[in-house]
Amino acid sequence: MKILLLGSKGMLGSDCKKVLGQQFEVIAPDKKELDIVSWDRVTERLQHYKPNIIVNCAAFTDVDGSEKESFLVRKVNVEGPRNLAQGSARFNCKLVHISSDYVFGGRKTVPQPYFEDDSMDPISAYGTSKMQSEIAVKENAPDYIIIRTGWLYGSEGGNFIKSLLANALRTRKKQSLKVVNDQYGSPTWTYRLAHQIGELIKNGARGTYHATSEGYCSRYEFARHILEKLKIKVNLEPCSLEDLSQPARRPVNCILENRLLKKQGLSIMPDWKEDVDIFLDYYGEKLLKEAKARNS
Ligand SMILES: NC(=O)c1ccc[n+]([C@@H]2O[C@H](COP(=O)([O-])OP(=O)(O)OC[C@H]3O[C@@H](n4cnc5c(N)ncnc54)[C@H](OP(=O)(O)O)[C@@H]3O)[C@@H](O)[C@H]2O)c1
Repeated sequence: MKILLLGSKGMLGSDCKKVLGQQFEVIAPDKKELDIVSWDRVTERLQHYKPNIIVNCAAFTDVDGSEKESFLVRKVNVEGPRNLAQGSARFNCKLVHISSDYVFGGRKTVPQPYFEDDSMDPISAYGTSKMQSEIAVKENAPDYIIIRTGWLYGSEGGNFIKSLLANALRTRKKQSLKVVNDQYGSPTWTYRLAHQIGELIKNGARGTYHATSEGYCSRYEFARHILEKLKIKVNLEPCSLEDLSQPARRPVNCILENRLLKKQGLSIMPDWKEDVDIFLDYYGEKLLKEAKARNS
């Protein structure tokens, strides 16, 4: 089975390259070699590689930047997946596409989760582009898996854990670090998600799946767990999403239920704390060193 992996230099893509590479033949061209925005390049490369499956981890992922970069977001997050979907139809392969919890407005009362068949109602430019990416995939790819996930962290790329550590090390005694306590979700390790993607592929899955770790927490609880685990003493100050005045609105409730994965007996997702602990046991020292270097 030959997989064409896009976005392999990113946070999820780099773990997919590692994990899927152990089970399948994986070809992972970078953006320079295969820009998903170019239809001509997509078709030329599909003709050349002849993959059985395309796994698309490529995206424009800057949520705040998406508010002003509407042209680029549309190109990468909507036209790119549409090119891959039409390409998958033309070259007779399956498309696995990664989507986001931000396709939902997050207005459900916490802890009511979002299900795969809930209506999408995004409240940001990024969320809208991910919703449109799903529509483009469904309309054009005869055989697809859409995987909605959220609150990703991993060893590569920027994420909440890395910025928390850099901020925590910068925060002096007597000062406090503000962390949002009114946004809820399920922190999910990209390495685990890569394994989950492998399971879906091996089992010939089709359709739209939610795939996040089990359980949920607020950003504040997530931060407290990380700092306690790494024994970093910093005063955390709970604040609201509104206090931060970020350019993009964020959904309050990002909790996704992996209903279809469980129904089909395919879920390998553990409780979020279990994976965060394994991740920090493995990468904690390295991340702290990186955070110190970033601050110096
Ligand atoms: N991060 C999260 O918390 C989160 C949550 C929910 C869903 N997701 C979804 O999960 C997927 C992976 O996210 P991530 O955080 O791993 O992303 P990421 O670290 O930002 O990586 C994105 C990758 O896409 C590549 N890329 C961008 N534009 C491209 C183009 N035109 N052609 C080919 N490649 C292109 C980037 O290459 P360059 O580095 O060379 O630009 C990078 O390797 C995305 O679909 C994202 O929407 C992420």
